[in-house]
Amino acid sequence: MSDVEDLKKMAGIEACKFVKNGMKVGLGTGSTVKYTILELGRRVSEEGLDIVGVPTSIATEKLALEVGIKLVELSDIDGLDVVIDGADEFDVNFQLIKGGGAALLREKIVAQQSKTMVVVADDRKKVTTLGMFPLPIEVTRFSHISTINQISRLLDCEVNLRMEDGAPKITDNGNFLADAITGPTILDPIKCESDILNIAGVVQVGLFNNMCDAVILAGSDGIESLYNPSGNLV
Ligand code: 5RP
Repeated sequence: MSDVEDLKKMAGIEACKFVKNGMKVGLGTGSTVKYTILELGRRVSEEGLDIVGVPTSIATEKLALEVGIKLVELSDIDGLDVVIDGADEFDVNFQLIKGGGAALLREKIVAQQSKTMVVVADDRKKVTTLGMFPLPIEVTRFSHISTINQISRLLDCEVNLRMEDGAPKITDNGNFLADAITGPTILDPIKCESDILNIAGVVQVGLFNNMCDAVILAGSDGIESLYNPSGNLV
């Protein structure tokens, strides 16, 4: 296992400390939270942990079922206790860029329905200013080129249609994805989110503002639990 993979595993497992019997748990998407899901599955089968999960992608749904986590529909329950998810970047105010794994729409829906959000990350994800990671934006397929051009004019930067195997990447919701190459310039992520959401062809943007309550951060010196002073876990 590579060093980075070790860090992802450490963070993913540590975040399970937020999950207790009887909880309704949002299950994020990505290569870090995968370790959370594997560990929760282990606790379900070996320790009798009693939880239900709501997955944020088809890939996570498949993994969660494989490891024996009982799943429910978000519409069938009254909110979640905690969602654990990865991030592509987080800043000093606990604002996030997400969507590198193409699951941002369901991730944001699930995060909005959860009392608390815990992010699992390795220390490459911590930034001063958001935007070095290309900002993912889910767009409708209808007239997607016009939408991408509108985003590009708004942000004054290059915006690329995300491709996979020579064709546009299609999300779990049947939409396309655009990645905005802003560079580390997103000084006001709340305004940026709102401006992008004003474009009719935009379905959702991967800025997750005022949602994250804690980051479980793995680095070469070990694990740190960072708590958002304005969040719900302090
Ligand atoms: C998926 C996401 C992921 O959580 C994000 O891309 C981080 O993934 P990883 O842990 O694999 O780096 O937002 O849409």
